[in-house]
Order: sequence, then structure tokens, then C-alpha cells
Amino acid sequence: MRFTIAIDGPAAAGKGTISKALASHFSLAHLDTGLLYRAVGAQVLAGADPLVAVKSLHPEDLKASTLRSPEVALAASKVAVLADVRNELLALQRSFARRLGGAVLDGRDIGTVICPEAEVKLFVTASAMVRAGRRHEELRRIGTVISPEQVLADVLARDARDADRAIAPMVPAENALVIDTSKLAIGEAVAEAITIVQKVIEL
Ligand code: CDP
Repeated sequence: MRFTIAIDGPAAAGKGTISKALASHFSLAHLDTGLLYRAVGAQVLAGADPLVAVKSLHPEDLKASTLRSPEVALAASKVAVLADVRNELLALQRSFARRLGGAVLDGRDIGTVICPEAEVKLFVTASAMVRAGRRHEELRRIGTVISPEQVLADVLARDARDADRAIAPMVPAENALVIDTSKLAIGEAVAEAITIVQKVIEL
């Protein structure tokens, strides 16, 4: 069975939580594509050339706990504007999306570029204030000291760079369903996503 759920949306909108919950509920493989860009960004922060870094990417690199830091997130959004970097990551993401058994991928360009043929496309969003608040709390929990104002500024800067770039900009796919999680508890957002997917499966 080939069945792809493409989940896109701005920073800290809840894509990760929803993707993991859908993957677990429907027994699908999950790829957080942001980790690919974060892993390249982390190597660039350490002095590597972006193209050399992306070509030498190793699955183990995606497991580093440092990838969640605000500095790495910003570096990720800078390497993500580079055509060579994005092209290098295309094949891996496309074959993951169409793997047997089905897959959930979350990112910025999954429904538009990586897998336009996805059976389900969601665009998960929330107000910038809500997203920054959630990200601040996540960072606090992993011991990162940063002000809420700085988190909001980082999120807005990243959103602008992701939406305005020439290649694979962050934009809802034409036929994507939008889930605004601003006023939803995470459980409610997950329930809404499960209902949407279930309806497609039953068609
Ligand atoms: O977790 P969060 O939503 O904050 O970010 P992420 O999904 O880990 O993505 C980090 C950065 O990678 C984004 O700001 C984008 O610049 C880039 N990215 C991308 O360009 N395309 C993707 N499919 C996924 C991430």
C-alpha cells in the first residue's frame, strides 16, 4: 500500500505532534523533514560548507539532541534557501513518501514539491503568538534559557524566510486542508487530523 500524509506549516504549529500521532494511529512511518535541514544547519554552524554537509549527511546525524536549539533552527532556515541543498534532499524524501506501508512527512514543501500526489495534505498553522508560546515552553523543558520575545522574533524571522524564498516556499498546497491549532488543545488538533485521514481512507 502506498499512502502518504503530507503535513506542512509554519514553525512550531504542532506539525510534529500531529505527524507522530497520525503515524502511530495509522501505523505509518514518519519523517520529520525539518531534521534534515537542521542537521545540515548544525554542521554549517560548526564550519562546514552546506553542500559538503548535505552530501555527507548520515542517519545518525538526525538523532543529535542539539538539533532542537534556536540557533540550529535559524541555521536550518538559512541553508533551506539553497537550491543545491534542497535538490540533494529530494530523492530521499520522495522515496520515503512513497514507501510501501505508507508514510507521514512533515515540513514546508511536502504537499507542494516532495509529494504533490499525497493522498492527504494538511497545512497546520496557529497564530504567531501561540506558536512562539508553545516553542518557548518546549525549549524551557529541554533546559534552554531564552526570552519569550526572542522566541517570537526567531519564529517570525524563520517564517518570513521560509515563505519568501524562491525555491519550494512554504505555502499551503492547493488542495490542502488547513488546521488552525490556535484555539485547540493538542488532543483536539490530533483528533481533527485523525478524522480527516479516516474519511480519506474510507472513500
Ligand atoms: O520544528 P519547526 O517547525 O520549528 O521547524 P522544522 O520543521 O524543524 O524546520 C526547520 C527549518 O527547516 C524551517 O524553518 C525551514 O527553513 C526548513 N525546512 C524546509 O525548508 N523544508 C522542509 N520540508 C522542512 C524544513
